[in-house]
Amino acid sequence: MARDSALKPFYSALLLAFVCSFLVSSASVGLHSRQQANQQLDRQKNILRAAGLYREGIPVAQLFAAIDSRIIDLRSGKFVSVKEINPKKFDQRQAVNNPKISHSLAKSTDIAGLRRLEDYSWVYLVKKDNKISQVILPIRGSGLWSMMYGYLALNSDLNTIRGITFYEHGETPGLGGEIENPAWQAGWQGKKIYNQSGKVDFKVVKGGVKTKGAAALHQVDGISGATLTSNGVDKLLHFWFGNYGFKPFLERMRRRINHGRTLTSLN
Ligand SMILES: Cc1cc2nc3c(=O)[nH]c(=O)nc-3n(C[C@H](O)[C@H](O)[C@H](O)COP(=O)(O)O)c2cc1C
Repeated sequence: MARDSALKPFYSALLLAFVCSFLVSSASVGLHSRQQANQQLDRQKNILRAAGLYREGIPVAQLFAAIDSRIIDLRSGKFVSVKEINPKKFDQRQAVNNPKISHSLAKSTDIAGLRRLEDYSWVYLVKKDNKISQVILPIRGSGLWSMMYGYLALNSDLNTIRGITFYEHGETPGLGGEIENPAWQAGWQGKKIYNQSGKVDFKVVKGGVKTKGAAALHQVDGISGATLTSNGVDKLLHFWFGNYGFKPFLERMRRRINHGRTLTSLN
């Protein structure tokens, strides 16, 4: 009897631990779909913000109706059919770890510190009068501490930046974390990524843009005290708008738009 009572606190603690772990794990499982829905909502908000289309108080789903979400093959730059990749099931973040639809990057190519690259990417087309007014592209790259995820919106010339947002990163608040600051992001509007010969000509400048005129159109201010994060942003831009990123898609789109193709006839 005496021995029973000595073990009682131990059994009680064990039972309590079981009950707590059961509650925590069922809450985590039960909330998983809601978490995913919230993440999706947050991404959609950031896509809209990059395009300057987000409006406080208007449901995101309503605003997002102006956007056509499509999947492209990054290598060919072509839109893929539903048969090839099912958009309902395609998760770009998970695709990076699926060897069937991603590949590792050679060090010399991997300037943005991605390690692996998915074969397919989402692209978001803003429709206006059955024409494309903007294209919003998902971007990511290594900063000082973390992978930084964001979106960049291009105007219909597929070169001029409409906006940039970062929706997930682990950079230091107040330093690298300033990539989230709308004031810093505002400095990207109107800047151009490619030069006249179609090469990426863009720089995130330490200490701020000093040049004037045409050269300044291809530069944005670096973040003071966060040169390493700024360099990461510079590199990710070079990667995503280069040959391994969206360049094949943008060149293909540019040719099609120049030939008078409307949005519905794009393939
Ligand atoms: C605690 C701590 C956190 C830091 N976080 C960042 C950061 O998020 N991004 C960054 O570029 N530099 C960060 N730095 C500073 C870098 O180590 C480095 O000094 C800085 O990038 C140099 O930028 P500057 O030449 O503009 O001063 C941090 C430094 C410390 C001590």
